[in-house]
Amino acid sequence: ASAVTSQLAALIRDVADFPQPGVTFRDVTPLLADARGFAHCIDALAEPWLAQGVQAVCGIEARGFIFGAALAQKLGAGFVPLRKPGKLPPPVLSIDYQLEYGRDQLEIRDDALQPGERVLLVDDVLATGGTLAAAWALVQRFDAVPVGACVVVELTALQGRLRWQSREPLHSLLRY
Ligand code: PRP
Ligand code: HPA
Repeated sequence: ASAVTSQLAALIRDVADFPQPGVTFRDVTPLLADARGFAHCIDALAEPWLAQGVQAVCGIEARGFIFGAALAQKLGAGFVPLRKPGKLPPPVLSIDYQLEYGRDQLEIRDDALQPGERVLLVDDVLATGGTLAAAWALVQRFDAVPVGACVVVELTALQGRLRWQSREPLHSLLRY
């Protein structure tokens, strides 16, 4: 790992048994609170995409908004929120997806992306991969051009990457 990724890793807090017994939660809020760490994180997230002509960054509620908005600014792109159900005014497109236990839903404004627009997906954590896969499927309903996805933290034991069916790259900064 580079000096930057070890500096970032030191700013992720491990919380045992949250939100359930047996789960180790990787908390990114200390990283957000550290001015240099947050700036380095956004630089590192942006790096693979600087020459990709990204026009829209789609961030997933809630923590994907924080990284996604900063990344959009860095890339000179617009920001499009993918939200939990009932938050965006109509008309919206929705997708249902399976969680580890139960189901969830993501929504996007039905005019949020243009045909041909170059889109990057962003979230804070890749866990089982269901959220990112659903977000990708939602973006594909527009005739937009996917360039890839990025996350700050990949929880490799959960094998979320296996659910990433796209040929486009999925980058993670830190892997646990
Ligand atoms: C977390 C995380 C990702 C998702 C990853 O969000 O921010 O969006 O879970 O899980 P998956 O890879 O198993 O789908 P959460 O649902 O906790 O929402 P929040 O950001 O609103 O807290
Ligand atoms: N941290 C933050 N978000 C998450 C995690 C985690 O460890 N697992 C699933 N979503």
